[in-house]
Amino acid sequence: MIVLGIETSCDETGVALYDTTSWENHAPAHQGILGQALHSQIAMHRDYGGVVPELASRDHIRRVLPLLDDTLHEAGLKLRDIDAIAYTQGPGLAGALLVGSAFAKSLAQGLNLPSIGVHHLEGHLLSPLLGGSVPEFPFIALLVSGGHTQLMLVSGVGKYQLLGETLDDAAGEAFDKTAKLLGLDYPGGAAISKLAEKGQSGRFDLPRPMLHSGDLDFSFSGLKTAVLNQVKKFEALGITDSDEIATFHADLARSFVDALVAVLVSKSEKALRQTGCKHLVLAGGVGANLQLRAALNASAKKNRFEVHYPPVNLCTDNGVMIAFAGALRMLAENNGSTTSGAFDIKPR
Ligand code: KG4
Ligand code: ZN
Repeated sequence: MIVLGIETSCDETGVALYDTTSWENHAPAHQGILGQALHSQIAMHRDYGGVVPELASRDHIRRVLPLLDDTLHEAGLKLRDIDAIAYTQGPGLAGALLVGSAFAKSLAQGLNLPSIGVHHLEGHLLSPLLGGSVPEFPFIALLVSGGHTQLMLVSGVGKYQLLGETLDDAAGEAFDKTAKLLGLDYPGGAAISKLAEKGQSGRFDLPRPMLHSGDLDFSFSGLKTAVLNQVKKFEALGITDSDEIATFHADLARSFVDALVAVLVSKSEKALRQTGCKHLVLAGGVGANLQLRAALNASAKKNRFEVHYPPVNLCTDNGVMIAFAGALRMLAENNGSTTSGAFDIKPR
């Protein structure tokens, strides 16, 4: 079965084709990726300091058809070779989701194919199966994106239990807001981690929110406020030396990343202990963070669990994860979860 995946939940238009043959033959799942195309709108939204929903919707409309052509071309396939169409049903921006849904449903109707709405986070959650080292069910998933921070027990395709989540800001949101405080462009996650690599640990004593809360929930808004307080304190000193300012920014970024990573790792360890799982997967945009990966690797060695990552290019939003999740869903449920004709989306 060849599944077309369409992702338009936020500021990336992603299109991909996934062939389930390798999955069904227990071959490495990434071999099923036949073609993929992605357009990021980040440059367009940057001047506004965040995603402008209306601009996002319009740009998805402009991009989706050419991206489909590119994907078919890469795969050496025609529209008639497609067997099913998966699209992101939610969560995300309503207008942006509607573009993908309307596009997928119309194409499905025109080609007389089944379509299936995929939960965006399920896409992230299953994407580590496309990596080099594949986790065994059941596993714990640490989902850290711009909109979500969750620990999930994954017992199989479609079998997910939420163990804990953020009570306020998502991890990626904390990265982006902190980046803004340090004068970095939106979205600042990757820029902060680069800056942090140049910084010294331990200069600032930032809080590690809910580290000892006893549950698996998170809270990051206090951390962001602590960063803001340090910035204000520094600005009050009136320092103008550019080297000193650069060092301050790097050290603060380092302390911020250290604090956030410490909480994410500690709660992941706790989830593994509680459930007895031996496999952890990292998913979502913040999963691209190298400090987080290094800390999880160290913990895995010490605590004897295995940690798995999606390929770095599949950490942030993309069409492959939607094609893949849709394909696994259809296989698992014998096409049972395909959706009806309406452009049904679930923004929240
Ligand atoms: O999963 P994703 O592409 O979109 C959502 O579903 O939200 O995640 C985007 C988030 C942004 O907040 C971005 O700043 C963050 O992932 N991010 C990073 C890194 N790369 C992207 N955060 C930390 N370190 C990175 N290297
Ligand atoms: Zn995402």
